[in-house]
Amino acid sequence: MEWIVVRDYDAMSEEAARRIIERMKAQPDLVLGLATGSTPVGTYRRLVDAFRRGEISFARVRTVNLDEYVGLAPDHPQSYARFMREQLFDHVDLPADAWDIPRGTAADLEAECARYEAHIRELGGIDLQLLGIGTNGHIGFNEPGTPFEARTHVVALTASTREANARFFERPEDVPTHAVTMGLGTILEAREILLLASGPSKREAIRRLYHEGPSPDLPASALKHHPRVTVIVDEAAAADIR
Ligand code: F6R
Repeated sequence: MEWIVVRDYDAMSEEAARRIIERMKAQPDLVLGLATGSTPVGTYRRLVDAFRRGEISFARVRTVNLDEYVGLAPDHPQSYARFMREQLFDHVDLPADAWDIPRGTAADLEAECARYEAHIRELGGIDLQLLGIGTNGHIGFNEPGTPFEARTHVVALTASTREANARFFERPEDVPTHAVTMGLGTILEAREILLLASGPSKREAIRRLYHEGPSPDLPASALKHHPRVTVIVDEAAAADIR
């Protein structure tokens, strides 16, 4: 695991975008794994800026996302599909059929998980996976206790995750109780992984990730088994790692 500590959220976003832009230039048909949430917003803004400057194109890129809430249709304002369109897809030249996100309204969610896994396989796997980290150490929606080998599956969200995500919903009870997420095993098959963390709320998860060995209690620690992971953290999140 390579650790990069930068000053603040903007510097984290800058460094992440710089690395993604570099990979996209080297491999225009890159398969990008994407994350939602507050963490990657600044990175996506910089990717949009780079596209507008003519520096990168998404015309041959394919993307897959980590997760989606169960029960939210792709056009629901709080769905991750909508988030991705608003933050990135609608502002760049990514073809409409080049992105995929688990369908949280699929009638048969088990079949949807299998479809998603098959789709990633058909793409030839993920070249570069972007990750945020939950305050409880989750990546994707792989909550503490998830086996490291898990494939794309349906999860019950923990109370802490639902609370952390309640800020996006009108009422706390509107936060979905379940999600479909790529499994840790699926994530670990990405050829390269970029994990971002910013702010004091991530300090404890980052402290544990830095100091503790791999254990299902801290899902992000599965990344310690991966040969090519870069963690970009700002000073507030990194306060306890040295
Ligand atoms: C989002 C995801 C989650 C988030 C994590 C951090 O697709 O998979 O693991 O990365 O919950 O969320 P933020 O960035 O909002 O702090």
